[in-house]
Amino acid sequence: MDAQTLENTAKAMVAPGKGLLAMDESTGTSNQRFEKVGIPTTVEKRREYRELILTAPRLGEFISGAILFDETIRQTTEDGKPLIKVAIDAGIIPGIKLDTGAKDLAGHPGEKVTEGLDGLRDRIAEYVQMGAKFAKWRAVITIGKDIPSLGCLEANAHALSRYAALCQEGGLVAIVEPEVLMDGDHSIERCYEATEKTLHILFDRLYTQRVVLEQMILKPSMVIAGKDCPQQASVDVVAEATVTCLLRTVPAAVAGVAFLSGGQTNELASAHLNAMNVRFKDILPWPVTFSYARAIQQPALEVWKGEEANIKEAQKALLHRARCNAAARNGEYSQEMESAV
Ligand code: 13P
Repeated sequence: MDAQTLENTAKAMVAPGKGLLAMDESTGTSNQRFEKVGIPTTVEKRREYRELILTAPRLGEFISGAILFDETIRQTTEDGKPLIKVAIDAGIIPGIKLDTGAKDLAGHPGEKVTEGLDGLRDRIAEYVQMGAKFAKWRAVITIGKDIPSLGCLEANAHALSRYAALCQEGGLVAIVEPEVLMDGDHSIERCYEATEKTLHILFDRLYTQRVVLEQMILKPSMVIAGKDCPQQASVDVVAEATVTCLLRTVPAAVAGVAFLSGGQTNELASAHLNAMNVRFKDILPWPVTFSYARAIQQPALEVWKGEEANIKEAQKALLHRARCNAAARNGEYSQEMESAV
């Protein structure tokens, strides 16, 4: 794969007015979300759900790329069309989740390291053959007493960098996702510190592993107080802390930044992204967009409930969130958009 093709794909993934849809929930995560709304946790229901998403009319106007899970990339619509082909025909670039999940990190109680490096070169070759153009790997960083530790940050940065280098060798744009979790009652200041340290170590390791920054997308979490912190910062403070942190740690050569939503409410995820693009548009060196899972899909899942009769309404709910976040990518989101459903 030539360098220009990878750079072009990375640019297309963060094109103006568009962002990424993370629909790569593992079977376990997907089942948990189905159970909460009373949907049977079967392969067929997961297939129906992914078909509902990818066939939503006009999705490609707002979504540049979709991250798929291994099960999904091998599935077809009810009438036999491969789901990856449905995405491509809708103008959506197909991507694939490559990590195999976060496991306990030995010697580091309460911390995780993401696995999946063994055999990765061969897996990449298979997905490229199937038509995938980019990939994702998620590292999980927890804030708590005396954590994150250096051991955790280094182990995850190493794995992310090895993954990204293998992606680029094999012809995939790498989405590099170090998620600092919102779980806990920590302040926004602690989140800032943990995120800055995470990104600083990560970009050092990406350099060491010779990852080409122009061929990767960073998928960070926002700098935000823990879910259980009584003091929640305003939208402007979150936007400012997040942009400050990224400006200090993320090289300008990175092709783009696409945030995860991390459990924020749908509206806050849009508002935070919008505020960054409104207030800092003149100084941001990279395109700043979204790569949300919950903050795009959750309303659709709740409307669908696993019933065929609800598919159209669920697709409308999905499109609404995609449209709101696409507007936020351009700094054109407003509260009024929410009532105009
Ligand atoms: P959320 O937007 O739900 O945080 O998910 C993004 C994602 O892809 C996590 O890996």
